[in-house]
Amino acid sequence: MCGIIGYTGQMDALKVLLNGLEQLEYRGYDSAGVALLSSGHDRLLIKKAGPVATLKESCAELKVESHCGIGHTRWATHGGVNDINAHPHIAGRVTLIHNGIIENYHNLIERFGFQDSLVSETDTEVAARLFDYYYEGNPREAIKKTIRELTGAYAFCIMFEDIPDEIFCIRNVSPMVAAHIEGSSFVASDVTALIPYTNRYFVIPEYELVILKKDDIILEDLDGNRKEPEFLEVSWNLEAAKKNGFPHYMLKEIHEQPEALRNTILPRLENGLPDFTEDRIPDSLFSGCDKIAIVACGTAMYAGMVGKALMEPLLKIPVSVNIASEYRYESPLVDERTLVIVISQSGETIDTLAALRLSKELGAKVLSIVNVKGSTIARESDHVFYTHAGPEIAVASTKAYMVQLASLYLIACRMAMARGVYQETDAAAFVSRLLEAVPAVEKILAKKDRIKTAASILAKAQDAFFVGRGLDYAFSLEGSLKLKEISYIHAEAYAAGELKHGTIALIEKQTPVIAVATQDHIYGKTLSNVREVRARGAFVILITKKDAEVPEDICDIHFAIPASSDQFTVFPVAVILQLLAYYTSDMKGLNVDKPRNLAKSVTVE
Ligand code: F6R
Repeated sequence: MCGIIGYTGQMDALKVLLNGLEQLEYRGYDSAGVALLSSGHDRLLIKKAGPVATLKESCAELKVESHCGIGHTRWATHGGVNDINAHPHIAGRVTLIHNGIIENYHNLIERFGFQDSLVSETDTEVAARLFDYYYEGNPREAIKKTIRELTGAYAFCIMFEDIPDEIFCIRNVSPMVAAHIEGSSFVASDVTALIPYTNRYFVIPEYELVILKKDDIILEDLDGNRKEPEFLEVSWNLEAAKKNGFPHYMLKEIHEQPEALRNTILPRLENGLPDFTEDRIPDSLFSGCDKIAIVACGTAMYAGMVGKALMEPLLKIPVSVNIASEYRYESPLVDERTLVIVISQSGETIDTLAALRLSKELGAKVLSIVNVKGSTIARESDHVFYTHAGPEIAVASTKAYMVQLASLYLIACRMAMARGVYQETDAAAFVSRLLEAVPAVEKILAKKDRIKTAASILAKAQDAFFVGRGLDYAFSLEGSLKLKEISYIHAEAYAAGELKHGTIALIEKQTPVIAVATQDHIYGKTLSNVREVRARGAFVILITKKDAEVPEDICDIHFAIPASSDQFTVFPVAVILQLLAYYTSDMKGLNVDKPRNLAKSVTVE
């Protein structure tokens, strides 16, 4: 939800900002802008509706030598997509960029009489006006007074006209990290923009001020007491954040899944058994609960659905899956005997963060499964299980989903051990079947071209239906989300047995139905449901295990996954569904990595 970057130092600021915005563009791509303010030069502002490439074109002819500036790529919330609403915003002596939402901006406009001075429709400009209103030559005082007035989430980078070469940063909820190398200081929404310069960074603590100077970076509390930043290191390099010859990030990330699985699973095995000593996750967390509540959004929530389908029959305790944005408004039945598992790739999704905070208030222990190190959700959880997917740049999540699943499988296995459901031999057998997921995924990738034919059918469709039973239904939910978000085809997933209770009315000649039938004990039942849609003319794409008996006339296209036991079929099936969505979107000529209306990190409610 908006990408922000700030730089001051010896390098060409415009170059640093534009490069950074390209890295951050996955966070929002409605419009982009930069403002430069270094000593000896007038303040300069350029902002344009459209992607960062449009901004870059507008900057191409600029002959400026500037060493300090801020840049922004927007995901519109308040105010339409146009040049005026794009950031940075200027108000008097203040120039700023913002990620977040100022909820009380209407009230502030009235209280401070800003009605006639605003030029945009944004909440951000109101904040800029307020900073300027309170600015009397002391930026610390102006920031302190302004944020006292603000309700909502924000990460601000502010430049004051009479203090060139310095950037002031403050945040509440919305993410922001900072770094310093000799002669340069940086701030950004996330570390991907800083990787070309350093892998050492710190997360700016909420309500603390960071001042970027060429030769120093200062962290202090709002009373002006200097503090030591807690530095973190990124374990991946710049190559990991590039496309490396793939036409899209999404395809690259789909191919990175075997490695991501290995990186997530192998370091947690000790003598073939799950061991979370390094993660500092004690067995008492697993043995001391009566129920599990999984909370997440979107794809991460669908990983949770698979987790539920796996854990409930295995552990024989209730497992609920909760949509984070609903959870806090439905009085969840969560207490100190509940283990809350929060799942988030970014670790910054605000709905998920709010659900985490509520769970803790209710007395539950929170274990989070998070990909981004040091993110807010990771820091606020009682325990963190980091996934090691590396940076996920494509807006549609693929490899993060895969490792969220692997994490849930490892947790389920360790929990079964801690609760006496599994003896060591059972757990070892479970782990070895989990490890078979890696070659199974590789096999699907090796034959990926076969999936293009099915995609060419889907590309012509208006609607598509995904059906499955049990675990297959849980996988189908994610398959349908993937297809709709990047191909704009209306897609829904249904429990296969539920079709005849209404949805089958939508099946017409050639309506694509993707049927997932990998669960042995309900295979026959699922095939009966497939016959029902086929009898009504559906175009059936069927996914089964390799060794399943597939009647000749039951489908139009058949994909077989390597033989494996029922609990583990999600891994290869997920790759087929991801590739189906990918090729369909690509064949339609759409922007696969940056689908319309979306952004990678959802930091607004
Ligand atoms: C879909 C997708 C989203 C995210 C959701 C949660 O492909 O990526 O549905 O899964 O916005 O994001 P995180 O996992 O960052 O909390």
